[in-house]
Amino acid sequence: MVLEKPIYLDYNATTPVDPCVLEAMLPYFRDSFGNPSSTTHSHGWEAKLAVENARKSATRLLGAADPNSIVWTSGATESNNLAIQGVLGPFLDHKTAAHLITTQTEHKASLDVAHALERRGLEVTFLKPNRFGQVSPELVMSAIRPHTKMISIIHANNEIGTINPVSSIGPEARRRGILFHVDAAQSAGKIPIDVEKSAIDLLSVSGHKIYGPKGVGFLFVAPHVTKANLLTGLLYGGSQERGLRPGTLNVPGIVGLGRACEICFERINEEPQKLANMRDQFIAEVLDRVSKAGAKSNISAQLNGHPKDRVYSNISLSFHGLSSDVFALGLSRIAVSAGSACAAGEPSHVLAAIGLPEILAHATVRIGIGRFTTPEDLQVALEQIEAMVENQRN
Ligand SMILES: Cc1ncc(COP(=O)(O)O)c(C=O)c1O
Repeated sequence: MVLEKPIYLDYNATTPVDPCVLEAMLPYFRDSFGNPSSTTHSHGWEAKLAVENARKSATRLLGAADPNSIVWTSGATESNNLAIQGVLGPFLDHKTAAHLITTQTEHKASLDVAHALERRGLEVTFLKPNRFGQVSPELVMSAIRPHTKMISIIHANNEIGTINPVSSIGPEARRRGILFHVDAAQSAGKIPIDVEKSAIDLLSVSGHKIYGPKGVGFLFVAPHVTKANLLTGLLYGGSQERGLRPGTLNVPGIVGLGRACEICFERINEEPQKLANMRDQFIAEVLDRVSKAGAKSNISAQLNGHPKDRVYSNISLSFHGLSSDVFALGLSRIAVSAGSACAAGEPSHVLAAIGLPEILAHATVRIGIGRFTTPEDLQVALEQIEAMVENQRN
């Protein structure tokens, strides 16, 4: 017997590759397999041209002007490491006082970098967000010290979807001469971003969150950062990516990510709104059905994260009064993420930071929707959640 796969509703973990992206990549595994660093023959020239075209597509998605501001990486984990360690590491090497402002709700790909640098002597402020998981520009600015060198903020949160006001923080940071890094792994291609207007100096993007392939991403580095030598690469090796990220480029991956950026750019005025409407309708219906099905047994549901400032893909729900075993077994027909999923069963640091009690964190589910989600998929999710609540009652 072949088990039917559950309906995919985990778009914040990863997205399926768009068929147009796959189509664009295939030639670069077959005939056009050259190394873009090969300057002596057409195989290399062809690969180089494809990489440079992808650079332009990535630039366009961010409202940037210079394609050379894109540094290809293996994904947002590497981009965050490059941005944070690449700027702050040299201060520690030279025993110069430096301070980083970040938040308690960053992805581990930033949070753990900050902790590692803290152990090496960096001063770090981990801002506590409000109950929606948001930090205000005023809170960020109030944490500035004379030697603050960087502000690093997650744009859309991967667990609860809340969007931080990066376009208000950037100009304030720039006025004070502090570099501003944004982790846009969950927001790029879903929320319009203009790095120029928002005065963003460094911004991380991941291919597999925007219908592109896994194992590829980029760091946007504003030209003035490169010009002033404010960023140092983390790897030693060749001169690829102007020495900031040596190593032979992943040409098919980069081509795929470039195409993914193009598609998101073409749809940015229509797709996010359509999916946000679908999300809002679903949330309203879930809350209504749970309140009816759970009325007698005192089960209710709540939405985590900001009710309005949230990325279209994220629906984080916690269930009061639901035991964790019912919860664990209840949603077998849909592929979703447990909101408390974290190392060694520890509740998530994000849910803790917004003040969610541990018991609720263990009854939290993250549903992620995206480009290929249909109303029928969400109907199944509704039925599953309703059945789960009824099972507990029985
Ligand atoms: C906000 C955020 N930052 C960084 C990452 C890491 O991205 P990657 O998987 O490309 O390394 C993720 C992935 O889950 C994310 O959601």
